[in-house]
Amino acid sequence: MSILVAGGTGYIGSHTCVELIEAGHDVVIADNLSNSKEVVIDKIKHITGLSEDTPRIKFYEADIRDGAALDEIFEKEAIDVVINFAGKKAVGESVECPLDYYENNVGGAVELAKAMARHGVKNIIFSSTATVYGEPDVIPVTEETPIKKIFHPYGQTKAMIEQILQDQYAADPEWNVVLLRYFNPIGAHESGLIGEDPKGIPNNLVPYIAQVAVGKREFLGVFGDDYETYDGTGVRDYIHVVDLAKGHVAALKKLLPKSGVSIYNLGTGKGSSVMDVLRAYEGACGKEIPYRIMPRRAGDIAIYYCDASKALRELGWKAEKTLEDMCADSWKWQSMNPDGYGDV
Ligand code: NAD
Ligand code: UFG
Repeated sequence: MSILVAGGTGYIGSHTCVELIEAGHDVVIADNLSNSKEVVIDKIKHITGLSEDTPRIKFYEADIRDGAALDEIFEKEAIDVVINFAGKKAVGESVECPLDYYENNVGGAVELAKAMARHGVKNIIFSSTATVYGEPDVIPVTEETPIKKIFHPYGQTKAMIEQILQDQYAADPEWNVVLLRYFNPIGAHESGLIGEDPKGIPNNLVPYIAQVAVGKREFLGVFGDDYETYDGTGVRDYIHVVDLAKGHVAALKKLLPKSGVSIYNLGTGKGSSVMDVLRAYEGACGKEIPYRIMPRRAGDIAIYYCDASKALRELGWKAEKTLEDMCADSWKWQSMNPDGYGDV
């Protein structure tokens, strides 16, 4: 199949392109490079053994809010499926600049879906997030867990886009929509050639630990050790980004005619605490990682992990990699590329 990957030079998108190509699909990437670099395309070719001038991966520097740019892509390329990773994702920034988030994420998703409709492409996989469950009453979270109050505009944009795509399916049942709710993606491709390249101070745990390990930051701040968890620190469902990427390849199965709307949690189904991750990372990099206990971070909840059995049942997919694999691959990427993709 030929797959339009919006946001395909980003962290999860780039890993998914590798898995799609390795599964025999062709990819057309549309990305405005607002949070990624074009050099990623060369890395994807290198990992997948494709030649410099291969037609199996194409890149358009395009914004998904730009309908004319999207029309050009759909006219030139015979697209079967769209995967939409394109979006802003920093929770704190979304609280400060909500309009930018609604405009980019929701506005972009609507423009992309409109362009799909204009060109008769009716298969979409959308990157959603576990955040749509808010603070769930019962753990583990299943796909039937009610959507609760969401505390930030970033999460709201994801819930809105889920609703918009479901409404579009209701209006035109020829659409097939897969909503993938990611838990906490971490790690990197085992080659060490692609990985997460956060701008500025990392917001998330593992990129922050990685920068402490490589000597760029002094210590990790552990946000609270008084949660009702087994060691007092927050518990999350960390998933290796390559497992997550493979989940998208598996989800293509749900884009057959009349599949309708399908929703899957993509996680391991296992919770790990901040201290578990810290210790696993120390094992991976072979050094002690200094940390200090800090106050809780506003909006954080104690425990979050999923029941991923629906994805296994219906897609034949489950996460295979361990927390140790995730930390080893994150460390390989970070130590081989201390400045990420650099200034190229
Ligand atoms: P990322 O920032 O690395 O990738 C997003 C890509 O989209 C970037 O390459 C960026 O340049 C591009 N982009 C942003 N706005 C665009 C626009 N208007 N037009 C074209 N391109 C645009 O982020 P990621 O971690 O790879 O996340 C991918 C998706 O998964 C996002 O939608 C994110 O919200 C979602 N998600 C991520 C996580 C996570 O922890 N990383 C968790 C749950 C959901
Ligand atoms: N944490 C620290 N120190 C840090 C960073 C994080 O102790 O420097 C702790 C947090 O308090 C939390 C855990 O590490 O207990 C994980 O925090 P992350 O920021 O890595 O991940 P979150 O679960 O808070 O949020 C992530 C993404 C969101 C997404 C959400 C659900 O950042 O975008 O998962 O998918 F919405």
